[in-house]
Amino acid sequence: MADADGFFDPFAPGFTDDPYPAYRRLREEDPVQEHPFGFWILSRHEDVSALLRSGHSVDYRNTEENSVARLQADAMLQADPEFAESIDTYGLSMLDRDPPDHTRLRGLVSKVFTPRSVAALEPFVTELVDDALDRLAEECGAGGDGGGGAGGGGAGGSGADLISTLAFPIPFAVISRMLGIPDADHDRIRQLSGLLVRTLEPVGDPELLVRINRARLAMQEIVRGLIDAKRAHPGDDLLTALIAAESDGDRLTDEELVAQVILLYVAGHETTVNLIGNGTLALLRAPGELKKLHDAPELAGHAVEELLRYDAPVQQSRRITLAPYEVGGKVIPRGAFVIVALASANRDEAAFGPDASELRVDRPNARNHVSFGGGPHHCLGAALARLEARVAVERLAARFPGLALAGAPVWNGRINLRGLERLPVSAG
Ligand code: HEM
Repeated sequence: MADADGFFDPFAPGFTDDPYPAYRRLREEDPVQEHPFGFWILSRHEDVSALLRSGHSVDYRNTEENSVARLQADAMLQADPEFAESIDTYGLSMLDRDPPDHTRLRGLVSKVFTPRSVAALEPFVTELVDDALDRLAEECGAGGDGGGGAGGGGAGGSGADLISTLAFPIPFAVISRMLGIPDADHDRIRQLSGLLVRTLEPVGDPELLVRINRARLAMQEIVRGLIDAKRAHPGDDLLTALIAAESDGDRLTDEELVAQVILLYVAGHETTVNLIGNGTLALLRAPGELKKLHDAPELAGHAVEELLRYDAPVQQSRRITLAPYEVGGKVIPRGAFVIVALASANRDEAAFGPDASELRVDRPNARNHVSFGGGPHHCLGAALARLEARVAVERLAARFPGLALAGAPVWNGRINLRGLERLPVSAG
């Protein structure tokens, strides 16, 4: 988990299955670590929160030449000359911009991605979840109780995979509908998006860099086509609204629009699948907590905060220092690439008490987690993710109180968007 010199090593065997011992070691031994690979890493809650809110940069072009972010961008360019074609939208999403561009882009998207538009989705989300739970019951051989009554998960059955039945389909269907993406494109987009998220991971393999890059080009084409179609036939969806979004006479340029749509699409489901998947696994490993939820469904909203804290669906964010930054008795120089270990901050005993590594769905200060980041880039989709997870967890616990692990969970091997590929369950 750490190499012989105590440096953070996310490539160590077993790290992506359980990174928490490595994070604990960082917090205890070197909470402001300067890594020989050209980055710094912050792991304590106080330091992580402060940097996220500090207004330092997210634009990799502000890093020093030898930083890991620059090296990855350069490797990408070298790996594929065609990358130049996707450079227009690479780095144009709000996630990679500083003010004033960030303020402008976020303002325009926030105008249409409002709390009210998210809340209005609840009946649709509930219907999706209930259908998914019917499938889960069927695959578990849990009998014909498709009506959602408690005890629907009867004994016996062959087991099911909770990722493909519930955790993935819900966020995927919701964001596809919000953006008005036709069903026919779903499989293709899903495949491309799986590659695109890898840009948020450290990648050294030039062949993979080329595949990621080609996926971006293909995704750009699909999204351009969707935008053209919506311009010709406006619908009642987020994409149509985004196209029309205007603030003080300002609009998104075409390239900016493509970049925000790709961001929303990828961020809209590659993260929430981890929240529902990792969260369910955490509940299965702490059956007493699942029972608490079954007995008190009104706990679900709060339980989601604890699930977000306990196993962060996005494990890291990053900032680039625009000026020397003092933290924990050290000075991080200007232009440094700083990994902000959200998942570690969430397990910090100094913030959450001595039982920080345990799941407690009624933990009073669970909401102090940093899983949605913080400061100006705080997750724009937090309300949507919370809605989907709350409905999923509440109805799952109500209907399958005896849900149990039916085999070893399979992790996706990602360091940042760390989640499960498969979660075998039985209805209990
Ligand atoms: C930004 C986490 C779901 C859209 C972020 C950031 C994190 C994050 C850590 C960066 C914050 C920072 O650096 O300070 C998550 C998690 C989710 C989730 C854990 C699910 C459990 C969603 C959804 C959407 C979304 C459903 C949209 C449909 C965005 C956008 C940004 C963002 C647009 C960029 C905000 C900005 O740069 O101003 N998210 N996210 N996210 N997220 Fe999410």
